[in-house]
Amino acid sequence: MIAKLVRNAGIYTPEGASPSAGKDQGAVRFLPRGAMVIRDGLIEAVGPEEKILSSLSGREFDEEIDCGGRCVIPGFVDPHTHMCFARRREEEFSLRLAGTPYLEILRKGGGILSSVRSVREATDGDLFENTLVLALSALSMGTTTVEMKSGYGLDTETELRMLSVIRRVGRETPLDVVPTFMGAHAVPELYRGNGDGYVDLIVEEMLPAVEEQGIARFCDVFCEEGVFSVSQTERILAEASRRGLGLKVHADEVHDTGGAALAARMGAVSAEHLLAAGDEGISALAKSGTTAILLPATAYSLRKPYARARDMIERGVPVALATDCNPGSSFTESMPFVFGLAVMAMGLTPEEALTAATKNSACAVGMGAVCGTLEPGKQADFLLLDGETPAILAYHAGVPAVEGVYKKGEQVR
Ligand code: NIG
Ligand code: FE
Repeated sequence: MIAKLVRNAGIYTPEGASPSAGKDQGAVRFLPRGAMVIRDGLIEAVGPEEKILSSLSGREFDEEIDCGGRCVIPGFVDPHTHMCFARRREEEFSLRLAGTPYLEILRKGGGILSSVRSVREATDGDLFENTLVLALSALSMGTTTVEMKSGYGLDTETELRMLSVIRRVGRETPLDVVPTFMGAHAVPELYRGNGDGYVDLIVEEMLPAVEEQGIARFCDVFCEEGVFSVSQTERILAEASRRGLGLKVHADEVHDTGGAALAARMGAVSAEHLLAAGDEGISALAKSGTTAILLPATAYSLRKPYARARDMIERGVPVALATDCNPGSSFTESMPFVFGLAVMAMGLTPEEALTAATKNSACAVGMGAVCGTLEPGKQADFLLLDGETPAILAYHAGVPAVEGVYKKGEQVR
């Protein structure tokens, strides 16, 4: 048994194991001089230092971590990434800066399809190494749990290959990695003009193989004009649900096609992106309790208006935050950057952003009982910040504010 004591910490944490919405989105517990007892990687107790110390009656610890009064928060959970890819697309970024729209690049065979070509050509080893670099970089900035989507294979063999690389990243790093099957990320060249034929392949071949290998927890679909329609999305998700996968939707990213309403109707755990979501979509999410995973770094990178986060919170939609890390629309693995954008560009309070980047995002990847808050029974995944409150992440702009990263009680940075 290994026991550790964290003391002299300004602990900020959301509480509970289900998503917070509305006024509760910003309700976080603050312990000005807090302490935490960790046993074998799990939190045993959290509370005011005085109380914790007096309950210990001389117990010995293998390690004492004195936080010097600085702020401690739960590790970030990044619930939406496409981190498993083989090659960057820097040339495309320049094209976009010069005015070519994101979806036009895709229509011309670039974008996601360019990543598909490079992933199909890459060896498993290269794909693993590329993913590992990003995953470790994310970890060093405070991400302790990360979701990763497939979707740059678009044939059965390569989709499964991606998912096994993603699984390997989970096995060979301290990170908890949640795998999502996203064969419906784009229509591959072979099926150009025959999207329904590709949906057949997903439903009849890919999903059965994914289920058989038990290699994904969620299924996600890019529901977008010119990509997958609402009815195609529905068909894929219905089959995924039948096969035991949780549901996610890339919804209303560029156009409002009714993706948010579909996610709500199908009981998806999350609708993700939502830059173009309208009133109807937002109301549907509020009614169903579907979490909105917002990706402000994508709005930043696409130079689009940010998602209507304030409207969502005011109407009672649980909001989570993610990087969307991918080589096209959002090349960042930094949750602190996303936190800063959420506060400064979307108007979240630091407390709302904290809940969004920890507990709500953990719940959105099925990890709400395991991590996302600092409470007894959960993993001791926590961050030491170079500041007094979580607001430091927005305040000290562009400068790393995460000083220490602990995963299951072990310092990993
Ligand atoms: O979430 N929208 C679709 N998928 C990603 C982009 C992937 C890419 O461009 O490679 C996104 O923005
Ligand atoms: Fe995405």
